[in-house]
Amino acid sequence: MQSLDEFAGDKLAALERAQLRRMPVATTRTGIWAERDGRRLLSFSCNDYLNFSQHPQVVAAAIDAIKCYGVGAGASRLVTGNHPLYDELEKRLARLKGTEAACVFGSGYLANIGIIPTLAGPDDLIVVDELSHACIHAGAKLSGAQVHLYHHCDPSHAESLLAEHRGGKKRTLIATDGVFSMDGDIAPLAALSELARRFDAWLMSDDAHGLGIVGGGRGSAFVNGATESAIDVPLQAGTLSKAVGAYGGYLCASQAVVDLMRTRARTFIYSTGLPPAVVAAAIAALTLIERDPGYAAEPLRKARLFTRALNLPEAQSAIVPVIVGDAAAALLASDLLRENGFLVVAIRPPTVPAGTARLRFAFTAQHADNDIARLAEIVRQQVLRR
Ligand SMILES: Cc1ncc(COP(=O)(O)O)c(C=O)c1O
Repeated sequence: MQSLDEFAGDKLAALERAQLRRMPVATTRTGIWAERDGRRLLSFSCNDYLNFSQHPQVVAAAIDAIKCYGVGAGASRLVTGNHPLYDELEKRLARLKGTEAACVFGSGYLANIGIIPTLAGPDDLIVVDELSHACIHAGAKLSGAQVHLYHHCDPSHAESLLAEHRGGKKRTLIATDGVFSMDGDIAPLAALSELARRFDAWLMSDDAHGLGIVGGGRGSAFVNGATESAIDVPLQAGTLSKAVGAYGGYLCASQAVVDLMRTRARTFIYSTGLPPAVVAAAIAALTLIERDPGYAAEPLRKARLFTRALNLPEAQSAIVPVIVGDAAAALLASDLLRENGFLVVAIRPPTVPAGTARLRFAFTAQHADNDIARLAEIVRQQVLRR
């Protein structure tokens, strides 16, 4: 057998040849600016859409919590890690999402790989949007259920899969991102909800990129002026690491489902609770989101300035992809923008399907309109015209 190091070295060399090797780069973020390799760049690659990770009230809440409770949680939430801040955070999340209850996990990834296997097993069926985030696919695989992928945002394909495979299965889950992380579009939740009703299935959305941004800050189930549960999504999952600017994952659902998660979800039971500072920061950020939905609307407004300037399909969220094709082209486009003072990281397979490597632009509330206009002009001249 190859030695471990030979195996790793060969794999890395092959990835390097395909321009798919990844390397974390030390980055200091100050607001919308990122400093890398001694250069200060205007960043369009951060999911801190509302810039709350450095908001004075959010930072102060985190510092106060450290002083009060210390740094780490010390144990799983079911042992002694359930510090008093959790209760407040879960109530706030449930209120914002219009559900009976909420359950906070260690991260968005941990939430999805905990939630899905708690609800589905080998006798069951899971139908998933093909472009859903990696952790939905991982959760579906972990469950041991029969999994079928439907074409991206195509409820009629989901319908034909349900018609073909639903019979004979005990339970069925339909799972999708709410806002798609690499494409920025919004799932057809109303149509999926109708399918769930017709096929006796449960609908789950992962609104990692929707919370705080769309639907008045309440997420993708509230888009188009929908109010209290206008779109029936009984399982609303997501993360606190993006617009909320903190860390952790959540599920907003009925009290019974949340109680089941707390009792059976393995990533809830067997993982240490979040640091108190992170929970306090998330509460402070949710207060800001609830208080000022106008501010929450800013990232989408900024994204639309960009798509209008370039005649791209109108942005539906804070995320705008510009697909360039192969990994080398995406790296080159990212380099060109860096030379112009912008940080826009290239997104390559396996994060996106082969042949769809892209620049992924993430807009935040604090990006200046004139910087967006300048960025669009450079993208027009140096990326789209190539
Ligand atoms: C759609 C989606 N779900 C889940 C996650 C994972 O969340 P977290 O970073 O909190 O693990 C991400 C991104 O990180 C995401 O884009």
